[in-house]
Amino acid sequence: MPRTVHVFDHPLIQHKLTLMRRKETSTTSFRRLLNEIGSLMAYEVTREMPTQELEIETPMERMTGRVIDGKKLVFVPILRAGTGLLDGFLSVVPGARVGHIGLYRDPKTLVAIEYYFKMPGGMAERDAIVLDPMLATGHSAVAAVDRLKEANPRSIRFVCLVSCPEGMRAFGHAHPDVPIFTAAIDRQLNDHGYILPGLGDAGDRIFGTK
Ligand code: URA
Repeated sequence: MPRTVHVFDHPLIQHKLTLMRRKETSTTSFRRLLNEIGSLMAYEVTREMPTQELEIETPMERMTGRVIDGKKLVFVPILRAGTGLLDGFLSVVPGARVGHIGLYRDPKTLVAIEYYFKMPGGMAERDAIVLDPMLATGHSAVAAVDRLKEANPRSIRFVCLVSCPEGMRAFGHAHPDVPIFTAAIDRQLNDHGYILPGLGDAGDRIFGTK
């Protein structure tokens, strides 16, 4: 297990996740709910971010306020399903930068293969938040964070919607220093690498590609 696992237990997130899991939920509703959950998660996941003092002038007098420390945050969706969380995150932190990691799962081995990687400059002064709705085998998450660590961000957090014990174990083994934020830890993986009870294929449900 990673050193820190944070389960988003906010009733709004749990309610919306349950609606998303239902098989009769349409693509439109699924996408909207994921967006809404993304903004609620962004609020929670940035709760512990370091701040620094800033001298400002109100119309009345000078004062010392607080702002988030360092360069702008970087959100890193894992393509393609991770982009489903991005708009929600950006609605809360509109100035954040966005890096992309493109990985696909080899259908036979379930191993993650990289096809795209692009990060903003100044990573050493940025806190990175990796986004992927499903932490299943953990292969993509582990590969994405392996690759992201080469860019040397100041910190990394991993955010998903649904996880499972197998994915948690694999990720925690590879990256014990990276906290996981998840809305659910489901029962298990099936033989095809899908989470049970899960919500099916997140990418297909977001993009209507089933
Ligand atoms: N990816 C998905 O979209 N769903 C799963 O259940 C597992 C991996």
